[in-house]
Amino acid sequence: MRSVPLTLLLSAFLCATGCSDSGGEGETGGAGATSGTAGTTSGTGGAGTTSSVTSGTGGAPGVTSSVASGTGGATSAASGTGGAGGGTGGAGGEEARVPAASASTLREAGEKANPPILIGAAISGGGLNNNDYKRVAAAEHSYVTAENEMKWDALEPNAGQFSWGAADNIVNWAVSNRMQVKGHTLVWHNQLPGWASSLSGAAQVEQAMRRHIENVMGHFKDRVHTWDVVNEAVLTDSDTGVGNPRMRPSVFFNALGEGFLDLAFEIAKEQDPTAKLYYNDYSIDALNDKADFVYEMVKGMVERGVPIDGVGFQMHIGPPNNEAGGADVAANLKRFSDLGLEVLISEMDINRCSNQVTAEEQLAYYHDIVEACFQLPKCVGITFWGINDGRSWLNGWSGALCNGQSSQSLLFNDQYQKKETYNKVMDALLGR
Ligand code: G3I
Repeated sequence: MRSVPLTLLLSAFLCATGCSDSGGEGETGGAGATSGTAGTTSGTGGAGTTSSVTSGTGGAPGVTSSVASGTGGATSAASGTGGAGGGTGGAGGEEARVPAASASTLREAGEKANPPILIGAAISGGGLNNNDYKRVAAAEHSYVTAENEMKWDALEPNAGQFSWGAADNIVNWAVSNRMQVKGHTLVWHNQLPGWASSLSGAAQVEQAMRRHIENVMGHFKDRVHTWDVVNEAVLTDSDTGVGNPRMRPSVFFNALGEGFLDLAFEIAKEQDPTAKLYYNDYSIDALNDKADFVYEMVKGMVERGVPIDGVGFQMHIGPPNNEAGGADVAANLKRFSDLGLEVLISEMDINRCSNQVTAEEQLAYYHDIVEACFQLPKCVGITFWGINDGRSWLNGWSGALCNGQSSQSLLFNDQYQKKETYNKVMDALLGR
């Protein structure tokens, strides 16, 4: 067994006296996900930018490779088979990102910015059965996260037996459209298959976690260069990130303590030393109890030399999660990036159900939050959690107050037409 630092043991002990299972996100709802179409193609890893924004240190090479079309950047390649771009990365300087003069798609606005910024979407296999969905998804985005198809229950339904088909369909479709992919997610308490949920004991859990990370990263090694290594390891009394922040009880935490995070990142690093490795969580978007706790947790990882490259801020705004104004988001992203990490808006949507967020507030949030990321060169991308309103996970999620109605939470309506939310996002990407 690897040794666990004293601070981790202490916080594990404190948590053991105060943690509970309540407050987590529910298990119901969500968009359908089956299979999609396949394809192949690739990009190559890019060279670093040489633009005026690289005055700082710490910018790794490889700025958004296959999607980058800004100055000094990376090459694009869209033929043959093999890997997608070289991973997100490399925003090195402290100076502001320079927007494109004009763009006809969000993707183009992201690619022409200097440094470029990834524009992503959660993609479902079911969505890829629809031609309009595919058209909008590929035209407007340069980055893909599989909504459900790369989770444990999808990839390893039986212990040691892997099922790649649905995930391969999404990843290959993305690569064939010169989009990068973020693997989501290697270690998470949710959407575990039954066999994994009933694991116990440090040896058993570590062995299963190691096998899963190694097999999954190994399978996608040429096509996926950024991973959510650990997702949602922290809990508060409210899903809005307020009250009693603590480590979340899970198969992994219960058996291994807080050290499961370090271990997961170390295994991932061994498996693919060049991959970008992320921690990802919800309701840590602005300044609240959970964001502070995650900040200290991640800071500790950085100080211990754990191979973490970035933090994903899910940015689910409105019920059941937090609300976050642009200025607070900017301050929060900045403090994490000051740890030397990339930051990323990883799952953005803004729920209008029950009018808890008004139409006007939704537009302001979309503009100001996208602007907050855009203005920070180390904020490498913005992923929206879906393409069109009708497919949003919020519509059927317990706690989202939608009761099966449309959450009106995204950038496109059910006819795949741009909404005013789309225009606000475009404005922010163009510096307006
Ligand atoms: O695949 C089964 C299907 O066989 C079954 O018939 C059907 C009946 O309900 O359920 C299907 O599984 C659903 C799955 O989505 C695929 O559609 C699950 O019930 C449902 O719970 C699941 O919801 C997903 C949710 O994660 C689960 O935690 C949402 O689609 C997905 O958008 C959501 O994504 C998460 C991120 O991964 C992490 N951050 C929060 C975000 C929103 O909750």
